[in-house]
Amino acid sequence: MEDKKQKRAKRRVVTGIRPTGPLHLGHLYGNIRQMIELTETHDCFYFSADYHVLTDKAERLELSDLVEDNLVDLIACGLDPSKCTLFRQSDIPQIPEFNLILSMVTPVGLLERCPLYREQVKELGIDNPSYGLLGYPVLQTADICMYRGEIVPVGEDQLPNLYISADIAGTFRFRYGDIFPVPEAKIMEVFARIPGTDNRKMSKSYGNAINISYDEETTRKLILTYYTDPKKPRKGDVGHPDECPVFYLHRLYLEGEPLGVVRRGCEDGGRMCYDCKEELASEVNEALRPIRLRREELKGNRDELHGILDKGAKKARKVAAEVLGECRKAIGIERM
Ligand code: TRP
Ligand code: SF4
Repeated sequence: MEDKKQKRAKRRVVTGIRPTGPLHLGHLYGNIRQMIELTETHDCFYFSADYHVLTDKAERLELSDLVEDNLVDLIACGLDPSKCTLFRQSDIPQIPEFNLILSMVTPVGLLERCPLYREQVKELGIDNPSYGLLGYPVLQTADICMYRGEIVPVGEDQLPNLYISADIAGTFRFRYGDIFPVPEAKIMEVFARIPGTDNRKMSKSYGNAINISYDEETTRKLILTYYTDPKKPRKGDVGHPDECPVFYLHRLYLEGEPLGVVRRGCEDGGRMCYDCKEELASEVNEALRPIRLRREELKGNRDELHGILDKGAKKARKVAAEVLGECRKAIGIERM
């Protein structure tokens, strides 16, 4: 019973990230920053949702590499594994059993109506969706309730899934009692909608992202391709910094007078977009330098990474075993 809520000083946060590829500046200045902040005030369980990647991928992926790269990125960005519980979903053997148990209190209709499921079937043109894809929100509920998650920081797009989680958790509690709380979504008002090189939201699928893992020259070259204020094609033309993604990014690194210099130079036409982007590239590379160094260090030291993951998994499994044990008794599979 050690883990029960009343024994914990901080509220428990649980969230997962699907390891679908390298992290970029949009992640760093959006979700990751918030995940790091939450570790100061909450008891955070963060995991890499590797099983969830399988729900919509037909081809074989080297998932263990994707997971490790993702976690390396997260830690390098400043997520401190000693301040949270960091692990991989598939390292917790209780998850599949819990998923099975929760599936028994989940109406098929609830899953079929889920707008995320419907969209995905339509978008990916799947004419024969898998049981696993339909059950995605059940597994997600297992991920949360397994660790008695109370608060689930997610992007707004995830709300339909969280709604289903609350429904499943509520039904389970109604039938079998209070073993885990009904989780609550916490919308991450992503601190900033970080613009990509084409001025759309930075995203891997748009091909407009600056990855954390890029080297400095690749970063610089990409930044030089940034979309800028189209009304300012040449030096001497008056620019509109508030409409320019390059200025938006400068604001992440500069403030006060140095930022004022950029703004005024743009507005009075004295500044050239090329120079403005070169400067931005230096700011980005400088800010990423320690992150990239830490990344290389971790990538070169798999033992350290595996140590972190083993420690996280051990902690997560302890809570999971407790919750699953109670559930098995509650449903009558095991003697009270
Ligand atoms: N579905 C989430 C996403 O794509 C990932 C996820 C899996 C998750 N399990 C979770 C998020 C549990 C929060 C809690 O972003
Ligand atoms: Fe954007 Fe800088 Fe050019 Fe102004 S000078 S339009 S801020 S790139």
